[in-house]
Amino acid sequence: MSSLPFPVLTPEEAAAMIHDGQTIGFSGFTPAGAAKAIPRALAQRARAEHAVGRPFKVGVMTGASTGQSLDGELAEAEAISFRTPYQSHPVLRSQINSGQVKFFDMHLSLLPQVARYGFLGPIHWAVVEAAEVTAGGGILLTSSVGASNTYLRLAEKVLIEVNRKHPPSLIGMHDIWEPKDPPARQEIPVYQVDDRVGAMLCLIDPKKIAGIVYTDLEDESSGFDASTPLTDQIGQNVADFLVAEMRNGRIPAQFLPLQSGVGNIANAVLGALGANPAVPAFEMYTEVLQDSVIPLLENGRCSFASTCALTLSPEAMRRFTANIDFFRTKILMRPQEISNHPEIVRRLGIVSMNTAIEIDLGGNVNSTHVMGRQMMNGIGGSGDFTRNAYLSIFSCPSTAKGGKISAIVPLVSHMDHSEHSVQIIITEQGVADLRGKDPHERATIIIENCAHPDYRPQLREYITMLKKGHQPMSLSLGPAFHRAFLRHGDMRNINWDEWKG
Ligand code: COA
Repeated sequence: MSSLPFPVLTPEEAAAMIHDGQTIGFSGFTPAGAAKAIPRALAQRARAEHAVGRPFKVGVMTGASTGQSLDGELAEAEAISFRTPYQSHPVLRSQINSGQVKFFDMHLSLLPQVARYGFLGPIHWAVVEAAEVTAGGGILLTSSVGASNTYLRLAEKVLIEVNRKHPPSLIGMHDIWEPKDPPARQEIPVYQVDDRVGAMLCLIDPKKIAGIVYTDLEDESSGFDASTPLTDQIGQNVADFLVAEMRNGRIPAQFLPLQSGVGNIANAVLGALGANPAVPAFEMYTEVLQDSVIPLLENGRCSFASTCALTLSPEAMRRFTANIDFFRTKILMRPQEISNHPEIVRRLGIVSMNTAIEIDLGGNVNSTHVMGRQMMNGIGGSGDFTRNAYLSIFSCPSTAKGGKISAIVPLVSHMDHSEHSVQIIITEQGVADLRGKDPHERATIIIENCAHPDYRPQLREYITMLKKGHQPMSLSLGPAFHRAFLRHGDMRNINWDEWKG
């Protein structure tokens, strides 16, 4: 029973309100705070409709990737017509790559304004997870903000999943602020990492709320793989580089706020920074907080974290919830439009640390497409931060697939971050500092400091074969590493003669 003036629905009743062809803005930025029960029921509904020969697909917009109940179930039910702005589910990925699902890969900071501008068409439903709802239309979000505040405001109708797993004591951890659109836009008044500028709740017209579904479901964030000597080495290289920058006076003694990407390498980097006594207590201005930050906040190595999502394993989430009064003084969750906003990234002087799929000798980075064609996840927030950072760092292992692929290639097969935005490259081999370097100097330093020794001779050979020009670049030989992999299953021992002409 609910004392609220909104219908209490089962997930199936809620899903029955959504029609084929509609667009839904779901909560979820990573699996953190993602709607779970309604998308699962929607997938069942799609299966039932398909079984009797009726079409049923919806457009799915979120904050970023989500969990099994949302992207997984809907993709497996073949219920997604288009998807934006980011995903990481293997079934959805293969549907995107086969052309079955249309995918718009977008900078995460831009999504809310693109939705407001109407570039993505009408949003029929917002389906949002909440810890609490008030009769007047106040919505307390859970472990992420993402684009929920914008979807709640723009959508014609709203369905709320009130998830009892998240306590109402989350109040005070969200900072909900949305800019006006041009020509009325003004600056975002975030001048320090811990500046609170907005509201604790999203506030919407309660008449839009079509119903509430009560749930008791954990976020579907898995933990991390144990660190390996390779991820530890990359983490150590990043930490050593930042300490040297501080010693050389290029990072102030109080340090600069850090942004860190997602995944095992990002986790290892933060672990190494936290463990390094030469690094002072630091702040984070980032889009995702992972498990490694929880102990750093507890022991004071991280003094404050502004984020869009708390992407914690179930154990770390329990630890957070048990000590929520402490964490409320240390963490703010903001909309992705604010957590990733170029204006704030540049103002605060953020050190961005993201992971690459491959990097070329000019310093261009591919974060998204394997062999130039197959979408991995999407650009996510990496571009928001990289383009505007005080220091932009990309790290990755120097090889992939057991050494058969070099992450350092003559020419990237797809480019997400150009040489104009990428400053530092770090692999387990070492650090290439590209600042102030001519393209030919960059190529040499990337080969000698970051490429795997198995690949250095052929990369050196490549640059010696090039005709004079500002860029170390050959249109015929540039793609040879990729072509060799596609033809022979291995980039090593390339025979340049095979690709000349
Ligand atoms: N060619 C082919 N495959 C490659 C590759 C390359 N050059 N480099 C990596 N891969 C494969 C790996 O083998 C692995 O495949 P598997 O899943 O089959 O084992 C997969 O890509 C992931 O690589 P991994 O080394 O485990 O890195 P990761 O999990 O840290 O992911 C990105 C790396 C780039 C895919 C990921 O960071 C990403 O999606 N980035 C874009 C978004 C982003 O940066 N967001 C940050 C803002 S928070």
